[in-house]
Amino acid sequence: FNSTTYQWPANSVIRKKLQGYVGFANLPNQVHRKSVKKGFHFTTMVVGESGLGKSTLVNTLFNTTLYPAKNDTVELSPEVPKTVEIQAITADIEENGVKLRLTVVDTPGFGDFVNNEESWKPILDNIEARFDAYLEQENRVNRHKMVDNRIHACIYFIQPTGHALKPLDIEFMRRLHTRVNLIPVIAKSDTLTEEEIRVFKERILADITHHNIHIYQAPQYEYDDSETISENREIMAKIPFAIVGSDKEVEAEGGRRVRGRKYPWGVIEVDNEEHCDFVKLRQMLIRTHMEELKEYTNDVLYENYRTEKLMAMGIQQDPSVFKEVNPLQKMEEERQLHETKLAKMESEMKMVFQAKVQEKEAKLKQSEEELYARHKEMKEALEKQRLELEEKKRRIESGRPITPEKKQKKGFSFNK
Ligand code: GTP
Repeated sequence: FNSTTYQWPANSVIRKKLQGYVGFANLPNQVHRKSVKKGFHFTTMVVGESGLGKSTLVNTLFNTTLYPAKNDTVELSPEVPKTVEIQAITADIEENGVKLRLTVVDTPGFGDFVNNEESWKPILDNIEARFDAYLEQENRVNRHKMVDNRIHACIYFIQPTGHALKPLDIEFMRRLHTRVNLIPVIAKSDTLTEEEIRVFKERILADITHHNIHIYQAPQYEYDDSETISENREIMAKIPFAIVGSDKEVEAEGGRRVRGRKYPWGVIEVDNEEHCDFVKLRQMLIRTHMEELKEYTNDVLYENYRTEKLMAMGIQQDPSVFKEVNPLQKMEEERQLHETKLAKMESEMKMVFQAKVQEKEAKLKQSEEELYARHKEMKEALEKQRLELEEKKRRIESGRPITPEKKQKKGFSFNK
């Protein structure tokens, strides 16, 4: 249960005082036992130019020789790599019965070339490939054994120049800050004075703000007690951590054996907060914020990546539920669209047909009228002709002797 992801509705909470022991006060112990049984898993990436002390710091952080000492590496490859490589080392470490599977992803070659313009690219690709692998597992039907290989933190090593961030640093952080929890550190800070470190830190933070780079910030919760709040503040105030790494023990004042670096003027103790910020970095990374880093990776960085990726694939997502466009719904929408198109075509055809019919009717009417006019004309001409003939006949009859048929008609007999 995480109070940051679920808020009880204020008006539905009833506060009750228990009358006896129920047992749920033991819940944290149950979670603790289960987590201890399952073990923990953390993946961190280290990025920085060659020789800035990345492997030494990892060994110092986890108090183990995760990386073999450089003089142990007998065979050195004669070929210089042409691009940034990605190498991962996994180790199971145990402390007081608690197991931690630690994966360190190294990026040899970063910043080591004449042209470092695209040094960030293989690293970003690797981080996104890990997100893709997780997304693929999430989409599987059987999600019981999900393997989380996502990078939970990226420790970025800044060269202890004492001036400002280099273009390479800015470009890297600008390109990566939306994909990974960035933790900037000043490498080999024992090469700088206290004052130089203070000024350098200010310049680095100013550059980060200027370029709108988001580095990891520990979240504050309202339920945090004052001790946690001040502990967090102290850690955050040290960013970028000025670190010193050493996996060797040296003799300090009073004959004490400490992890540190020995100089003619004295000993720099790695585990002494007065000497460097190593303790604060370790505290944040391991003791207090490991789960927070994992949570932020999952809830914010990965979630944003997933949303971007799925949106690019045309799948919509609402804030709480994943909603793929229902294929049946899509077919229904397409069918309706098709029907509307057909109906429109039909009405257009009807209109054209009606216009044609009207045109034909008008033409027929016109030819009917013409026919009627001709018929009338002919009838009149015939009538005129008939009248003329009758007139002629009448005239002929009046000027000529009556024919035998006419005499007969009038009652004459020729034989008498
Ligand atoms: P690559 O493997 O080449 O990328 O180097 P790296 O970044 O892993 O550096 P590595 O840890 O091998 O350290 C390089 C050298 O710097 C070694 O001689 C270390 O002893 C030394 N070194 C490591 N950390 C520190 C430090 O905090 N201060 C100083 N002064 N030297 C350091």
